[in-house]
Amino acid sequence: MKLFLDTADIDEIREGASLGVVDGVTTNPSLIAKTGRTLEEVAREICEIVDGPLSLEVISAEADGMIEEARSLAAIHKNVVVKIPMIREGLKALNVISQEGIRVNVTLIFSPLQALLAAKNGAAYVSPFVGRLDDIATDGMNLVAEIIEVFDAYGFDTEVLVASVRHPMHILQAAQLGADVVTIPLKVLEQMLKHPLTDIGLEKFMADWRKSQG
Ligand code: E4P
Repeated sequence: MKLFLDTADIDEIREGASLGVVDGVTTNPSLIAKTGRTLEEVAREICEIVDGPLSLEVISAEADGMIEEARSLAAIHKNVVVKIPMIREGLKALNVISQEGIRVNVTLIFSPLQALLAAKNGAAYVSPFVGRLDDIATDGMNLVAEIIEVFDAYGFDTEVLVASVRHPMHILQAAQLGADVVTIPLKVLEQMLKHPLTDIGLEKFMADWRKSQG
């Protein structure tokens, strides 16, 4: 399973990348806005740090605008994947730009049928938002299971990119379901590597070692 970092914060990306397990990065307009910098500037810096897919989202609400934006975003760097929202205009734009060879991450997926439409139009990734479903008392991971079932039934190449991840259990469940990618905040990546028994065990080894040295 691939791990992407879900942030536009350069310090976080540097820290995550130094762990060696980061395969790519996803951003959205909210994350780019938080940096206070231009999308292009941030994107170029991220591409210098992580050599893997970088999702950058379009802002337009009309297909023509999305297509134009997608072409300029894709021209920033070979690793750029264009994020298109799962709306009617987005589906039209996806149909055009996927045929041009631009890789597209269809975002804001909340049903398996939305994922099916995106896959039919050549999406490279679909991003089901599990945390936002959990927030409204609906099982987000069930959506991931439904999408995987549909994609397996028809042999779609579209990768399932689990997004809106809030905690390590989302990652474990995504891995058990065989999701292709999870995109996670640095905080959740750090939670993955922690276990209190590891810390207690190490502390005891060190204390015993110190004692033996007098
Ligand atoms: C990533 O592609 C999404 O934009 C992101 O995971 C959304 O997460 P949120 O629901 O925590 O904002």
